[in-house]
Amino acid sequence: MNLEMPAPTHIPVLAEETIKALAVRPGGHYIDCTLGGGGHAAAISDRSSPGGKLLGIDADPEAIKIARTRLEAYSDSILLINENFANLQAICIKYDFFPVHGILFDLGLSSLQLDSNVRGFSFQLDGPLDMRLSPSQEVTAADIINASSEAELAHLIRTYGEEAHSRQIARHIVKERPITTTRQLAQTIERATRGRRGRIHPATRTFQALRIAVNREFEHLESALKQAVDLLGCEGRLVVISYHSLEDRIVKQFMRQESRDCICPPGTPTCICGHIRSLRLVNKRVITPSPIEVQLNPRSRSAKLRAAERIITRDEYCKTTEKFCFLAQVEAGGWRRPAILKRLQRAFSVA
Ligand SMILES: C[S@@+](CC[C@H](N)C(=O)[O-])C[C@H]1O[C@@H](n2cnc3c(N)ncnc32)[C@H](O)[C@@H]1O
Repeated sequence: MNLEMPAPTHIPVLAEETIKALAVRPGGHYIDCTLGGGGHAAAISDRSSPGGKLLGIDADPEAIKIARTRLEAYSDSILLINENFANLQAICIKYDFFPVHGILFDLGLSSLQLDSNVRGFSFQLDGPLDMRLSPSQEVTAADIINASSEAELAHLIRTYGEEAHSRQIARHIVKERPITTTRQLAQTIERATRGRRGRIHPATRTFQALRIAVNREFEHLESALKQAVDLLGCEGRLVVISYHSLEDRIVKQFMRQESRDCICPPGTPTCICGHIRSLRLVNKRVITPSPIEVQLNPRSRSAKLRAAERIITRDEYCKTTEKFCFLAQVEAGGWRRPAILKRLQRAFSVA
């Protein structure tokens, strides 16, 4: 009998829908900004072969290690980088990854992170109150819990956790500090909410809020979405899977705004914003997992997939090409990189 624990795995969510939304084709170049366990990356590599290339990014060095093993069969066509996706554009310039036919963000955490008791993401496992995606980050969840004022904590828990009992929770946290473990925090929250049990555990929203704050999730997502649009070639696809309403709102508003020509406030007599759309929505309605997928993988239940396609006008083509040539020159420390220029011209076929 094998008494060893099974190796932890992460089941990719909406895998087939993701491949379809990315319009993966042989020879295409794709970026998986949230590599995790490498499930989506493996599916993309399969479908983009022969000739495809995949750039996989993850802020968590452990995820890179695990994905490298899982993706060994594709080692000739993949490049795995331990970085934050907030630096997406710089990564593409550094590794000369142009043109890009599709970019995927599968947000949140992998099961590998959630099921680890040393990472501090789960209130169901006891461990240090850490929650950093990368050990190179300075601020942990314990730092925030123990150094913030009661008002700051209440604000954070309300804003990032949409928690109705944020004030009581913040008051109890301040009273019971120092708090250094996940169990201590979960028990403090249970006392603050008098063990009220709704659909979800009373600590769910506070843990979500802390994770968002520790990893500056919204700031990085907003910045990366803008960079992704700049990197996509004409008809390139942007696909985002989110797992809670605040995250989904950012994605929805971004895609909606980028798919409209004018974003002036309603009632403005003539357009003063000069905004030109850069995306076309692929699906009008959000895509969610089937009941069968949810049954097989309960962690997929809150997933929402949104997809958009890049539109590039002639003016923008010129501006984007100039911008990337300039950035590539800076990175290369020289004046000309004809290879990049040529690839850019191929990528941005003019609409
Ligand atoms: C839901 S998992 C992805 C799972 C993956 N699609 C798979 O099939 O195995 C999300 C991953 O994104 C990573 N991540 C989250 N925010 C990030 C960021 N700002 N930069 C880079 N990686 C990030 C996490 O470390 C985690 O490994």
